[in-house]
Amino acid sequence: CYDSVTKGMTNESSDTVYLPEAHRLSDTENKFIVGCYTVAYIAAGDREDMRYASACSAFCGPKGNNLTSLMDGACSGTGCCEATITEGHTSYNTMFNPDYNTTQIYNVSSCSYAVLMESSRFSFRRSYVMNSSQFIDTNGGRVPMVVDWAVQNASNCVEAQKDHDSYACISSNSVCVNSSSGPGYICNCTHGYQENPYLLHGCQGEYVKFL
Ligand SMILES: *[C@@H]1O[C@H](CO)[C@@H](O)[C@H](O)[C@H]1NC(C)=O
Ligand SMILES: *[C@@H]1O[C@H](CO)[C@@H](O)[C@H](O)[C@H]1NC(C)=O
Ligand SMILES: *[C@@H]1O[C@H](CO)[C@@H](O)[C@H](O)[C@H]1NC(C)=O
Ligand SMILES: *[C@@H]1O[C@H](CO)[C@@H](O)[C@H](O)[C@H]1NC(C)=O
Ligand SMILES: *[C@@H]1O[C@H](CO)[C@@H](O)[C@H](O)[C@H]1NC(C)=O
Ligand SMILES: *[C@@H]1O[C@H](CO)[C@@H](O)[C@H](O)[C@H]1NC(C)=O
Ligand SMILES: *[C@@H]1O[C@H](CO)[C@@H](O)[C@H](O)[C@H]1NC(C)=O
Ligand SMILES: *[C@@H]1O[C@H](CO)[C@@H](O)[C@H](O)[C@H]1NC(C)=O
Repeated sequence: CYDSVTKGMTNESSDTVYLPEAHRLSDTENKFIVGCYTVAYIAAGDREDMRYASACSAFCGPKGNNLTSLMDGACSGTGCCEATITEGHTSYNTMFNPDYNTTQIYNVSSCSYAVLMESSRFSFRRSYVMNSSQFIDTNGGRVPMVVDWAVQNASNCVEAQKDHDSYACISSNSVCVNSSSGPGYICNCTHGYQENPYLLHGCQGEYVKFL
């Protein structure tokens, strides 16, 4: 938000979020979404090595303008910017460009927003442009995010199957599936079986349901 006295930003960056071991940000389900009158960055990486992963800036017209062409639901680059992030990150934070001159903005838009969230759960509203507090309030200050999980002892299924002792898909009727979000793999039960492929005899025949 913008301070009405200093006309500067009250918070320029978020705290860094660290995901638990074996988890990473989904680069397909999440998007970096940024509101009006700002330029924001997202840095991502692992604990030691954070790099810029994306940046976004929306076109919002002159400050205080009523962008009548905007439509609810469409984050199109006008009134709202959305960008993909790169693959395989285990931590991230977001920040506003501290060099962006906000002296003419504080009285038009009291706050702005920059958020990594599940893109299918974001629904742009025109009212967010003139009053970004509405975005924060609509979501109660929290938004959903998708994390992927993978067994990361081996980089893919072919490598994993070379080491029988660490291979995680131990149930009969299980298959290995390469992770879609970076190195590693997950296990699945084969067609007609379900439950837990990571346990011995964990994949159960579906006939059980019909007994
Ligand atoms: C803004 O920063 C202050 C001090 O770093 C912190 O206490 C506060 O929780 C932050 N507010 C938000 C909304 O992140
Ligand atoms: C913006 O324009 C729309 C459509 O012309 C109008 O309904 C709305 O009241 C205007 N909002 C403001 C804040 O001027
Ligand atoms: C920011 O903009 C205001 C008015 O537009 C100007 O007076 C001021 O010098 C600018 N500040 C910087 C640091 O460029
Ligand atoms: C906001 O403040 C700036 C500088 O104080 C002023 O030039 C501008 O007209 C104001 N805008 C509105 C919409 O009040
Ligand atoms: C912005 O929206 C919030 C509710 O989300 C409301 O409480 C507040 O009065 C609005 N501010 C303006 C300037 O319209
Ligand atoms: C696989 O990796 C996990 C997490 O790093 C570790 O706890 C576990 O011991 C490893 N398992 C084997 C069999 O190497
Ligand atoms: C997994 O990835 C490896 C290396 O890219 C590839 O050789 C293998 O065919 C893939 N396996 C499956 C089950 O998709
Ligand atoms: C796992 O198996 C189920 C049932 O056969 C299937 O619907 C699903 O797509 C599979 N998941 C992956 C990641 O292959």
